[in-house]
Amino acid sequence: MLEELRPTDRRAALVVEHLSKRFGDRVAFEDVSFEVGYGEVFGFLGPNGAGKTTTVRALGTLIAPTSGAASVAGIPLSAANGPAIRARISIMPESPGLYQRLTIAENLRCFAGLYELDDIPGRIERALKAVNLLDRAGDSCGSLSKGLRQRVALARALLNDPAVLFLDEPTSGLDPVATHDVHELIVSLRERGVTIFLTTHRLTEAERLCHRVAILNSTMRLLGRPDELRERLFKQSLGVRVRDPIEDPGPVFGDLPGVDGWRMSASGCYELAVSDAQIAAPALARALVDAGADILSLAESHHSLEDVYLQLIDEDVEAIRR
Ligand SMILES: Nc1ncnc2c1ncn2[C@@H]1O[C@H](COP(=O)(O)OP(=O)(O)O)[C@@H](O)[C@H]1O
Ligand SMILES: [Mg+2]
Repeated sequence: MLEELRPTDRRAALVVEHLSKRFGDRVAFEDVSFEVGYGEVFGFLGPNGAGKTTTVRALGTLIAPTSGAASVAGIPLSAANGPAIRARISIMPESPGLYQRLTIAENLRCFAGLYELDDIPGRIERALKAVNLLDRAGDSCGSLSKGLRQRVALARALLNDPAVLFLDEPTSGLDPVATHDVHELIVSLRERGVTIFLTTHRLTEAERLCHRVAILNSTMRLLGRPDELRERLFKQSLGVRVRDPIEDPGPVFGDLPGVDGWRMSASGCYELAVSDAQIAAPALARALVDAGADILSLAESHHSLEDVYLQLIDEDVEAIRR
């Protein structure tokens, strides 16, 4: 029955148009629009409470959106199309939700049965292979580290060969080694052309893994490739490190040619927005020396996605909202 409902929307793996979800008076997300292409790894970034999980749940047909439209894996999002959409996607939720007393293989068999999949042994083998757990199939899930449990959850999400894989904060709570392992797995899925919708509040994760990212804070704030976002949000800037903090930096930085503004970064460096680094840098060096500061370094800054994000979340967002 389900197989008869063929994808009708071939534009993209996900097409989201003015989608909103409210819980009573509370807005979870509002007027969200974007597309995710087939084979794309799309990062959905935002702080806690931004509406990331609710978006995944809405697109995964677990809750109905309040307004707006979407198509998921080519199928228009509606309650009636829920089963057909769910057959084509997978959601790896924030907590793995495995049966602790069952082995890895038993867990996967159980879920494959629930999903009413064919060729269960073949699917389990391919999924375990994809997450490098073939040799651990007989281990009970209760005995696994958090990182390994997350890999089992990923294997479970791969059982139905999803056209779109939703990963909701897949590395949340993992240590750096386990995080690295999950990243490697996502990279290998990306290389295989799996379409991935990845929510995260880890900026380096998005920068490393995603073709494009959207930044959400109830409404969409920005969307683009990580390098585009950096360029769009940041003008040229100079970073200065001095041995001791400058007592009164305002007058030192305030009146320099080619300098449009300054701020102190979290790491204690001074960050200067400049219109012309060629003019600003020598003037800045002279002003620092005149102020008695010992310069440790003075260089053009490279902005990370993290800078973009913090700027967006901290600033008056209305100015940036598209
Ligand atoms: N079932 C629910 N009932 C009421 N409010 C909810 C429900 N689920 C989420 N919310 C609210 O929606 C907002 C977004 O939550 P969520 O999507 O979980 O954010 P994120 O995943 O980005 O941390 C939050 O304010 C949250 O409290
Ligand atoms: Mg969440």
